[in-house]
Amino acid sequence: MGTLRDLQYALQEKIEELRQRDALIDELELELDQKDELIQRLQNELDKYRSVIRPATAQQVQAQQQSLVLQPDQHRSKRQAISAEPTACDISALSHVTLPFYPKSPESKELIKEAILDNDFMKNLELSQIQEIVDCMYPVDYGKDSCIIKEGDVGSLVFVMEEGKVEVTKEGMKLCTMGPGKVFGELAILYNCTRTATVRTLTHVKLWAIDRQCFQTIMMRTGLIKHAEYMDFLKSVPTFQGLPEETLSKLADVMEETHYEDGEYIIRQGARGDTFFIISKGKVNVTQEDSANQEPVHLRELTRGDWFGERALQGWTLTASEYVNILH
Ligand code: CMP
Repeated sequence: MGTLRDLQYALQEKIEELRQRDALIDELELELDQKDELIQRLQNELDKYRSVIRPATAQQVQAQQQSLVLQPDQHRSKRQAISAEPTACDISALSHVTLPFYPKSPESKELIKEAILDNDFMKNLELSQIQEIVDCMYPVDYGKDSCIIKEGDVGSLVFVMEEGKVEVTKEGMKLCTMGPGKVFGELAILYNCTRTATVRTLTHVKLWAIDRQCFQTIMMRTGLIKHAEYMDFLKSVPTFQGLPEETLSKLADVMEETHYEDGEYIIRQGARGDTFFIISKGKVNVTQEDSANQEPVHLRELTRGDWFGERALQGWTLTASEYVNILH
């Protein structure tokens, strides 16, 4: 009897063990599915980047090396493309353009905003620009099996999906499906290229759309206003006052605002530098580690109009052992 009970007990234990293993397998399968989904999403993003970023030619690389580019990344070259030297006239003309306004529910506004913030190519827009895009978007509907975007066409609209499902294909191969809360059709407008893929509806879809002209007005207006602000700032800094207007304009083209919190490090001692900084607001503390006790020793304080990191522009490493932090 004792043996039978022991066997029953052992059987129960094995069943429990099997149940736990099944649960673990389910959990791991779920994790695997999530990782597959992530890989697919990253693969899509990579494909999108590949579609719009052509490899630089040797001439372009040389030109870039010879020009005064503070941080030659994708973001900056985009800003350079806005305008070489915008005039007060350009700014005034653009600020007088009245953009269309289409009322929408708070839920739709939120959906469009979140879709933009979720899109790698648009999430770095300023909040004021996103707000303007939200206001300008108008509703469009497509029935099942419609072609919204055809690969190779000239594009004129950017869409945000509110309801339904679409399929994205390239050269006949399926890239992905997209549901509500996704932006599409942004690449042709942002990079001034033809449509990089075909987008077809799988169900009836409800979309929000914005046309190229509205989109570019929003982009340029902010770009030009910023450019004018940077020019005013550079002209107010005694060190830059002697520079020709054209040079200041080139500087303003590639400048970008960055904010640091009180006490945050901007450059660490010994780190390789690639950025030239001009202080527009606040104070920066320059310190150097004392080699004897490794304590930071205060060297000087920099304020508005002061600059640092200039050695990075000449391609040097910051070996002078300085690090700075903002006081205000
Ligand atoms: P655009 O090139 O204007 O038109 C086709 C759109 O399909 C494109 O913008 C993107 O929004 C989208 N798209 C292109 N390639 C991919 C991809 N690999 N994954 C997801 N969406 C893509």
